[in-house]
Amino acid sequence: MEIPVQRWYEAIYQRKSVRNYTVQTPSAEALQGLQEVADQMRDACPAARAVVVHDAPKAMFKGILGSYGGVQGAPACVLFIADTEHRHHQMQLGYLGEAVILEATALGLGTCWIGGFFSANLAKQLTPIRPEERIIAVTPLGYPAIVRWDEKLLKSAARSNTRKPLAEICQPEPEQWPDWGRSGLAAARTAPSALNRQPWRFTLQDGTVSIAPNKALETGVLTRRLDCGIAMLHFQVGAAHAGAYGTWVWEDEGPAIGTFQLHSPPPRP
Ligand SMILES: Cc1cc2nc3c(=O)[nH]c(=O)nc-3n(C[C@H](O)[C@H](O)[C@H](O)COP(=O)(O)O)c2cc1C
Repeated sequence: MEIPVQRWYEAIYQRKSVRNYTVQTPSAEALQGLQEVADQMRDACPAARAVVVHDAPKAMFKGILGSYGGVQGAPACVLFIADTEHRHHQMQLGYLGEAVILEATALGLGTCWIGGFFSANLAKQLTPIRPEERIIAVTPLGYPAIVRWDEKLLKSAARSNTRKPLAEICQPEPEQWPDWGRSGLAAARTAPSALNRQPWRFTLQDGTVSIAPNKALETGVLTRRLDCGIAMLHFQVGAAHAGAYGTWVWEDEGPAIGTFQLHSPPPRP
């Protein structure tokens, strides 16, 4: 699908994780539109899909555990599902899922990637899942309620308001990147990540941008590659906003997991 650059660029800078919701249900048209965006994104991400659930079960999101988690009152939700047999499923799920998150933000809806504290058993009852598929994450969906004291605590515990300096997420230093690259980096910097770990590293070499996670080897169902997939979409939207249109190629051999290919010569400085 063609990315709605201006719409998602604005959403990138408006979005923040929302954990408390009003009872107001999003309209069926809005939810239907969100499902269409999710379906269209599958062209670029065949190993991932998202299912918009109009009535989220009340017990879907478990209570606060430790210092992380706790979603209250979400009327709807989205299930993020990956084909675990596909080698790029984590990156593609991050990329496709974030498209849904940005479109929801543009619709005025609150979201929050949840990889840990949701009921996987309940989620599985909401849609048919093939044996090779897994519901890796979900997001609540609805209208943000007034922030409660415990949400403020959760946000500060998860360091939500902090991001690594640009210089820490790119190589060479930001001053040596073209304007469109810096716009992409700035958009990527704001991307959400599990535990706000921001594990992405962007490299510019011989005019080509690539991305790698800051740790090569990892296990578990929620990897840094998923976070990187989220940042890849942000970078693409930020670069396009500065006039450089391109798409990511998923790489099979490391250390880079994606290479950004420009569709036309980038704008001159
Ligand atoms: C893959 C992923 C999984 C996450 N899982 C949880 C979770 O289980 N519980 C939670 O409260 N927040 C979760 N988050 C939200 C992050 O804590 C949040 O994105 C980060 O702290 C940055 O804050 P912001 O989204 O407000 O910018 C997750 C985010 C991502 C990208």
